[in-house]
Amino acid sequence: MRLGVAVSGNGSNLRNLVERGFEVVAVATNRPSCGGAAFARERGIPLAELPQKDFASARERDLAMRDFFKGHGVELVVDAGYDRIHTEAFVEAFRDRIVNIHPSLLPAFGGGMDAIEQALGAGVDRTGATVHVVTADLDAGPILVQEAVDVLEGDTPETLRQRVHEAEYRILPQAIRLMEARLAKSPAVG
Ligand code: GRF
Repeated sequence: MRLGVAVSGNGSNLRNLVERGFEVVAVATNRPSCGGAAFARERGIPLAELPQKDFASARERDLAMRDFFKGHGVELVVDAGYDRIHTEAFVEAFRDRIVNIHPSLLPAFGGGMDAIEQALGAGVDRTGATVHVVTADLDAGPILVQEAVDVLEGDTPETLRQRVHEAEYRILPQAIRLMEARLAKSPAVG
């Protein structure tokens, strides 16, 4: 299945997907200097650089991303460390075909960029990672796969983040396969 991946950060989930043989046909970023964008360039994956400053509104930026992904025949959009919220036009264009990975066991610690720090601050015994379908509500779409990660004594944001990332590398591929099986039963994207 043809994947379009949106990134803003290091891009380690993007790298994991490519190394596992997923068909990543396009990468979009709002941060051209991020590690994910560098990886796309290095691998020769078509890359759209869409910094917000180049657009009059978030909607305009999203329409450019929509057209870029559609132009590459993207069937499923994967938000892999993408730090913007998609506007309605984008979510509608890929309705039920966008997944996001979030570093907590949603609905716990949703809605922010600091889920790892929040979990540590709350003193919970376990946190984890979630892949969910993206809807108009932030971090609230149907959950596809979750994996729990124990918080260990002495954990810092860095040590915990590393173990959460390892869980992400397992569950994002699982979620994509699940979506692939689901979408195989529904009509092709318009
Ligand atoms: C991951 O922890 C993901 O859950 C969150 O952003 C991080 C991206 O990491 N949404 P990377 O850029 O894939 O390394």
